[in-house]
Amino acid sequence: MKFFADTAEISEIEELAETGLLDGVTTNPSLIAKSGRDFIEVTKEICGLVDGPVSAEVVALDHDTMMKEAETLRKIADNVCIKVPLTMDGLKTCKKLTGDGTMVNVTLCFSANQALLAAKAGATFVSPFIGRHDDNGFDGMELIRDIRLIYDNYLYDTEILAASIRHATHVLESARIGADVATMPPKVIKSLVSHVLTDKGIEGFLADWGKTGQTIPTS
Ligand code: E4P
Repeated sequence: MKFFADTAEISEIEELAETGLLDGVTTNPSLIAKSGRDFIEVTKEICGLVDGPVSAEVVALDHDTMMKEAETLRKIADNVCIKVPLTMDGLKTCKKLTGDGTMVNVTLCFSANQALLAAKAGATFVSPFIGRHDDNGFDGMELIRDIRLIYDNYLYDTEILAASIRHATHVLESARIGADVATMPPKVIKSLVSHVLTDKGIEGFLADWGKTGQTIPTS
């Protein structure tokens, strides 16, 4: 499973990139606003920190303007992935862009039928929003399961990018189902490493090691 960071904060991306565990980044207009940075500048900086796809979202609602915005965004770097909303204009834009070899992430997916359309439009990624789905009384995991089934039925290449992830269980369940990517707030990525028995085990080993009076040479 690929891990993307769902943030536009440079320091958070740098920290995760250094671990070697980061496969890409997703941003959206809200995350750009939160960063307080210029959209083009911050996207360029992020693209330089990771080798994988960096999603940058168009804000136009009509196809023609989406195409013009995408033209600007895709010039930022080779690893920019254009993010478009799951609307007819977004799908039309997706079809056109992927036809030209540009990566496209179709976002704000809340139904399996929408995901089917995204695959038919040739999307590189489809982003079902698990957390927001749950918040509205639906089952986010059921959505991921349905999309996996449909994509496997027809051998679609579109990757399922589990988004709006709120906690470690969302990651675990998405991985069980076979989502290709999980995009997560950095704090969720970091939380995956924690286990009380790991901490307790380290504590015990170090206590016993101390009793040996030995050190491991480091040079
Ligand atoms: C995905 O690409 C989105 O940026 C993101 O996952 C949205 O998550 P939220 O529901 O926490 O805003």
